[in-house]
Amino acid sequence: MSSPLTQPLLCLFLALLFVAGTSSPARASDELERVGGGGGENQREFDYFALALQWPGTYCQRTRKCCSSNGCCRGSNSPATIFTIHGLWPDYNDGTWPSCCTKSSFDPKEISTLNDALEKYWPSLSCSKPSSCNGGKGSFWGHEWEKHGTCSYPVFENEYDYFLTTLNLYFKYNVTSVLNDAGYVPSNTEKYPLGGIISAIENAFHASPQIICSKDSVEELRLCFYKDFKPRDCAIASDAKIDMVTSKSSCPKYVSLPEFASTGHDGLQSWASNNSAL
Ligand SMILES: *[C@@H]1O[C@H](CO)[C@@H](O)[C@H](O)[C@H]1NC(C)=O
Ligand SMILES: *[C@@H]1O[C@H](CO)[C@@H](O)[C@H](O)[C@H]1NC(C)=O
Repeated sequence: MSSPLTQPLLCLFLALLFVAGTSSPARASDELERVGGGGGENQREFDYFALALQWPGTYCQRTRKCCSSNGCCRGSNSPATIFTIHGLWPDYNDGTWPSCCTKSSFDPKEISTLNDALEKYWPSLSCSKPSSCNGGKGSFWGHEWEKHGTCSYPVFENEYDYFLTTLNLYFKYNVTSVLNDAGYVPSNTEKYPLGGIISAIENAFHASPQIICSKDSVEELRLCFYKDFKPRDCAIASDAKIDMVTSKSSCPKYVSLPEFASTGHDGLQSWASNNSAL
C-alpha cells in the first residue's frame, strides 16, 4: 500500500473523497435544478410542461447567511406562506428532459417590465449562483431561461413570453389557496397525509401533481400541462401514480408544510430587518 507509486494515488483518492464529501449538501438542490439532463442543440421537441413550485418554508431553513438575491432574507417581504415559482420545464414523457437548447443567453432587459412580479413570485431562495448554459454562473432567472426556457420552442420563442406565461399559469392554478382551503396550512407541528394533499390538487385541477420532499417537509410541488396549457397528470404510467404515495416517492406518507424560519435564525432576521427596503 505504501509503495512510492500508490502513495500519491492514495492521496489523490482521499482528496477526491473529501471534495465529494464536502459538496454533498448541495446535491439535493442540484438534483432539483436538474443538472445533467443532457444538453446541446438539436434536441427533439419536448412533450409537456412541468410548472415547478417551491415551498419557501422548507427551502429557507437552509439559509445560513444572507445576500440581496436570496428571497428568504427579505424579512416581512419574504414569501413566507405561499408556494413560489421555481421554473416552467419542458419535459419528455419518458422522464428525461431537454436542456440548454439554444445559444440564446439571458437578457434581463427583456423582462424588466415583469421585474416586480418576478421578485415577488419567482424569487431565488438561495445565495448560490446557478450555472448558466455556457459554463458560467448567473442569476436564477437566467438559469431557468437558458436551461429550460430555451427548450420550450415552438411554444415560446422569447424570454418575455416564457416568463409572462409562467406567471399567468401560476396565478391561474393557485396551489397555495387549494391547499389552504383543504385545511393544509403552514405549520411547524402538524403532519398531513401526502395522499390528502395529492387529492386536494386532483380535485381542484383534475390532474395529479408530483411532490418532492426534503425529509418529511414538502419542498416542491409540480403541476403538469399539455403544450396548450391544459392540466395533465405529471406521471405517465398508472403505476407511477401509485409510486407517488409509496416507496419510490421522496415523500413519506405524512408530510409537513413548515412555516417560514421563525426562530433560530437571529442573524438572518436582523439582516432582514436592516434591509427591509429589499
Ligand atoms: C394564492 O392564494 C393565496 C392564499 O389564498 C393568496 O395569499 C395568494 O395571494 C394567491 N396568489 C396569487 C398569485 O394570486
Ligand atoms: C441591524 O441593526 C441593528 C440596529 O441598528 C444592529 O444592532 C444590528 O447589528 C444590525 N444587524 C446587522 C446584521 O447588521
